[in-house]
Amino acid sequence: MKTLLAGKKILFGICGSIAAYKAAEWVRELVKAEAEVSVVMTEAATHFVSGLTFASLSGRRVYTGMFEKDAGEEMTHITLARECDLFVIAPATAQTIAKLAHGFADDLLSVLVLAGNTKVLVFPAMNSNMYCHKATQANLFKLQEYGYTVIEPEQGKLACGDDGVGRLVDWKTAREKIVSVFTRQDLQGQTVLISAGPTWESYDPARLLSNRSSGKMGYALARVAKRRGARVILVSGPSAIDPPPGVEMINVMTGIEMHDAILAKYESADIVVMAAAVSDYRPGKKMKQKVKKSGTSIELELIPNPDILKILGYKKKKAIRPLLVGFAAESKGHVEEGRRKLKEKNLDLIVINDIIGTDTGFGADTNEVSLIDRNYQLEKLPLRSKEECAEMIWDKIVNLNR
Ligand SMILES: Cc1cc2nc3c(=O)[nH]c(=O)nc-3n(C[C@H](O)[C@H](O)[C@H](O)COP(=O)(O)O)c2cc1C
Repeated sequence: MKTLLAGKKILFGICGSIAAYKAAEWVRELVKAEAEVSVVMTEAATHFVSGLTFASLSGRRVYTGMFEKDAGEEMTHITLARECDLFVIAPATAQTIAKLAHGFADDLLSVLVLAGNTKVLVFPAMNSNMYCHKATQANLFKLQEYGYTVIEPEQGKLACGDDGVGRLVDWKTAREKIVSVFTRQDLQGQTVLISAGPTWESYDPARLLSNRSSGKMGYALARVAKRRGARVILVSGPSAIDPPPGVEMINVMTGIEMHDAILAKYESADIVVMAAAVSDYRPGKKMKQKVKKSGTSIELELIPNPDILKILGYKKKKAIRPLLVGFAAESKGHVEEGRRKLKEKNLDLIVINDIIGTDTGFGADTNEVSLIDRNYQLEKLPLRSKEECAEMIWDKIVNLNR
């Protein structure tokens, strides 16, 4: 995120909604990501939050009126509009949406939208009756016709006490929408199926067999693919991570459930990335009651789980689609093992994880992986955050997918 937004000039319009206070977090996060944020507030917005808050957070002057004393000298509306890389309007009120839909220009925010020719992201927030009203819906439709992107508000409890659609989306969702404006859309039109996380193989109602996978790498791959324009289906074993915004989540527990979910979606996918750490084995017998401590040794029979990648590789045979990417977690002989698995499982690409290093593999926020493609070309990627690592893996996949 830091590198993607660094130096980007973002004009941030705030309207008179009860959600205006949430814009403070957004501005703070954008500034943290090194974007240059200029805030413009409608007159109504200043009744909800002080301009001083945004001046402090952005480190810049906040614009509130068209006729401020030096407005004429600076030609504020033209300069601000001309210089920005993106115009974010959040929260966008029904009033401002109506104004923009009809080309009104009676305050600085609406003038700036008309005067600029940059990408506009509109984040509506209002009572659900206001949002669902035909007038608002027709106005939002018009905005989309003008080429603005409207981000549908969330369903939930609203400030007025009602339950319904109209709540401003959270920062994580907004962040993805903003970042995707500056991201090449080279996965547009592609359906990507990703597996992530560990599996839990129950032995009795209290105990299970699992592994140290956190899901961080698979979730980063899903988030980046979504950002780059793909439709993303994420099949995840138990993980503490929030689902990436906009992906279709399928939660599973066991290797068998993972197998069933992947096979059910496989046909619709253009690219399959199996980043999950599926248990190779599961207990042969699942006990209905908790096994009592007896003080003596017990034997646990383990039976193999289906090798999902191998099954997919076999199904694919000589077909071109879907492009098949596997992950291998290795503690020694990484490259040899990777090559063997690539061939055995008929993969287009294998990503080899070193699980011994402290900065890499399970649970870490960073990763250092090696890639071997279907032509046996080996590429070692540098140690990076899992998100940057995901970017580089997708670069490789996009190349192979051409
Ligand atoms: C307490 C309060 C909360 C409001 N919340 C919203 C809101 O969430 N969304 C909205 O569209 N209008 C809301 N309004 C109405 C707007 O403030 C009003 O339509 C105003 O004219 C909007 O002006 P602006 O679009 O120029 O900011 C609220 C009004 C009040 C008094």
